[in-house]
Amino acid sequence: MASATINMPRDPNTLSNYNNWVTKHTIADLAIDFKKQCLSGIVTLQLESITEKESEEIILDTSFLDVQEISVNGSKSKDWKVTDRSEPFGSPLSVKIPGGAPKGSMVALDIALATTGKCTALQWMAPSQTSNKKFPYMFSQCQAIHSRSIFPCQDTPDVKSTYDFKIRSPLPVIASGLPTGASQFKHGVNGESGTMLYSFHQGVPMPSYLFALASGDIATASIGPRSLVSTGPEELSDAKWELEDDTEKFIEIAEKLVYKYAWTQYNVLVLPPSFPYGGMENPVFTFATPTIVSGDRENVDVIAHELSHSWSGNLVSCASWEHFWLNEGWTTYLERRIGAEVHGEPHRDFSAIIGWKALEDSVNLFGADHEFTKLVIDLKGNDPDDAFSSIPYEKGFHFLYYLEKLLTKPTWDKFIPHYFTVWKKKSLDSYDFKATLLDFFASDAKASEILKSVNWDKWFYAPGLPPKPKFDTSMVDKCYSLAEKFGSSSYSPHKSDVDGWSANQIVVFLEKLQSASTPISPEQSKAMGATYNLIITKNVELSARYFGIGLTAKDTSVYQPTAELLGKVGRMKFVRPLYRKLADVDRKLAVETFEKNKDFYHPICRQMVEKDMGL
Ligand code: BES
Ligand code: ZN
Repeated sequence: MASATINMPRDPNTLSNYNNWVTKHTIADLAIDFKKQCLSGIVTLQLESITEKESEEIILDTSFLDVQEISVNGSKSKDWKVTDRSEPFGSPLSVKIPGGAPKGSMVALDIALATTGKCTALQWMAPSQTSNKKFPYMFSQCQAIHSRSIFPCQDTPDVKSTYDFKIRSPLPVIASGLPTGASQFKHGVNGESGTMLYSFHQGVPMPSYLFALASGDIATASIGPRSLVSTGPEELSDAKWELEDDTEKFIEIAEKLVYKYAWTQYNVLVLPPSFPYGGMENPVFTFATPTIVSGDRENVDVIAHELSHSWSGNLVSCASWEHFWLNEGWTTYLERRIGAEVHGEPHRDFSAIIGWKALEDSVNLFGADHEFTKLVIDLKGNDPDDAFSSIPYEKGFHFLYYLEKLLTKPTWDKFIPHYFTVWKKKSLDSYDFKATLLDFFASDAKASEILKSVNWDKWFYAPGLPPKPKFDTSMVDKCYSLAEKFGSSSYSPHKSDVDGWSANQIVVFLEKLQSASTPISPEQSKAMGATYNLIITKNVELSARYFGIGLTAKDTSVYQPTAELLGKVGRMKFVRPLYRKLADVDRKLAVETFEKNKDFYHPICRQMVEKDMGL
């Protein structure tokens, strides 16, 4: 068996031959052209030959990319081609290396390229689409397999490269590296005067999906001794206030749990509202949705999460998207350990209870037998974006939480820094994880005995929900009893019901209502919106959930506000379920709303909503 599979790459979502060559260093020398809405320039890949039997071809991933010219070790090559597209992975670029290269030697490819209008990683915004309407804006989102639509690469988390960024833009630039000094670039591409060259270096090897760029009217302020926040100048002071209390505290807690932060600075870029995720853990600069700036510091758990990726995901990476839980499950685990340290242990279960609801929703959406409800999934032929859900986050969290409880916290906690040391700057799969855990405790007879009871196959491959632990419900009991009142009668809400509640307690209440077997009445929904201020709240975690309940209750008074919200936020966590629910009760309004706003959404979000609604 082993010999047949030895040359099979473990990542099925790349077309690159990374088992023969690996990228060690990448130089992205690119100009940002806001008028043409494209990036163009030269990307250099320095690849090492890693096989005895020399490979005479380097195959890279590309997707909707305009590849113009290639040099091999400085000499222009004619021996390359971009082959036909195969969905969903794109068009492989093959470059012939006559005679190959001896194992251990390096080959440099300089690739001249431009992105195209079909690029799935970039969102371009005209000045009219930005908050102050003065300047254009652009940003990238590469996870999971969108880097290949910016530059040819081995687009797999199983390969890690260091990076240099040399980015020309008329506006400030942010990238996933440390700045090495911006200098005036007098004669930019096409003679654009005022264009600056922004340089960054990423000396810690990272997978291609962490390549990130943003450029626009961006201002910056300090939020801690090693942290900055960047966003639009008008939004800066609110963003600073939201983050300055917690960021350094979170870093220090994580450092105690694992080890020293490895990326020098931990900064946050707060993006325009069409950013499709809550946060994205781009090294040095986390990218975040502006919905975290809610004025109440109630959404900083997103920062605890993205920061935690600095260890799980960014330093220690899953080897393929089939083992994505190693990124997100570990990160959710660390995020909740940080939360527990700040707010006390009951808060961990509070957060896990919210997560359990998201897990149930995902399992219900896919169906309890679905492949994508497993912890370790089969992604052959599939787009990782289609498998994305809360399952790797929450099932992954529960697996680690289960191991912690099984071994007891002090014993388990010794494993955490060990695991992150062994796999630092490397990629691993679930079997490596299992071996590392068993190995670490091999010399501890008691722990080894305990670990014999772990049903690994069941955790890895059983579809549906994992066993539900007994949660500490001390923080949610009152939320549940309020929800029960609605369920059992024609209860009409009172302002005092939610006096002194945190936004997240209201979230728990709303989720309990949403999962009740009989929906509330349209009248109750309407009264609830007015009495609990849910119709006017600026916290989208609340309004999106409230609108979801209102739509299920067929409360027509939320239809229009839902459509309005869908024109203001592009975070998929809110947008996708709201479109689904809106389409159920008023398909016409849903389709009209989508048509009106589709240019506002990021290409990934647009694509997912189109799939969801069968457009
Ligand atoms: N890495 C993810 C976002 C992501 C996953 C982008 C897969 C593309 C493909 C990020 O760390 C994340 O999990 N974001 C969450 C934050 C939340 C769990 C606190 C989100 O966007 O909601
Ligand atoms: Zn994450």
